[in-house]
Amino acid sequence: MSITYKDEAGIAGMRAACRLASEVLDFLTPHIQPGVTTLEIDRLSAEYMKQQGTRSATIGYQPPGYPPYPGHLCTSINHVVCHGIPNDKPLKKGDILNVDVTVITPEGWYGDNSRMFLIGGEAACSVQARRLTQVTFEAMWKGIVMVKPGVRLGDIGHAIQTYAEGNGYSVVREFCGHGIGQRFHEEPQVLHYGRPGTLEELKPGMTFTIEPMINAGKRDIKEMGDGWTIVTRDRSLSAQWEHTVLVTPTGYEVLTLSAGSPPLPSFVTTTAC
Ligand code: MF3
Ligand code: CO
Ligand code: CO
Repeated sequence: MSITYKDEAGIAGMRAACRLASEVLDFLTPHIQPGVTTLEIDRLSAEYMKQQGTRSATIGYQPPGYPPYPGHLCTSINHVVCHGIPNDKPLKKGDILNVDVTVITPEGWYGDNSRMFLIGGEAACSVQARRLTQVTFEAMWKGIVMVKPGVRLGDIGHAIQTYAEGNGYSVVREFCGHGIGQRFHEEPQVLHYGRPGTLEELKPGMTFTIEPMINAGKRDIKEMGDGWTIVTRDRSLSAQWEHTVLVTPTGYEVLTLSAGSPPLPSFVTTTAC
């Protein structure tokens, strides 16, 4: 399948789906505390999606070569890079947690986003954990602010890679952002590293995610025996943030925003242009 360009109706469908995906994270935020299990967070998200009239895109999701994914969302703690499966282990003070939520609306549109959580608050987490989380957030936004027609995907990847590596971190290569619409993972692939002036040219109506996975140590990863969970090979901490964005005629619109979205980095002047 190829890239889909959304018309006004498609853009309206994506705006709605993405806002709802962001609101799931808003709803979960006060519940994400030391002592709570990721399975409980999963259960709460399922209830909330039901109230919204959406459903989880991840539960039962089965790309070729994978077992069906068992969670309503992904919960990736500390050295888990992505696709962590909710379990019955309580969160601990000082953990860093990524919660990745993808919803499907009744009209069939997908909204995909994730945020990091510092368990027990900033004071409970190490300087390194806080810095990695913040640099990864900024790296995602370094990619977002590049988005406008005529720019290429390689420019976005380069901006993210330069920022992450400039801060002493590494970029995971095996997983990337993706086109999204009435399917979860569409073309194009949105790499979080790359060379300026290469790869697909952005055009209005494209919708895709930017979701860098940044490691405090080396970039190498390995898959756990459950067929889903990805961890850093050197067991260093890993962080990730994700937004879904629309390419507008003059720039970008970040679609996965809601009341609880964290404040923008200082170098970002707008969420839509
Ligand atoms: N939400 C993830 C992404 O950003 C994909 C998760 S697939 C799952 O693309 F099956 F692991 F949930
Ligand atoms: Co996601
Ligand atoms: Co995604």
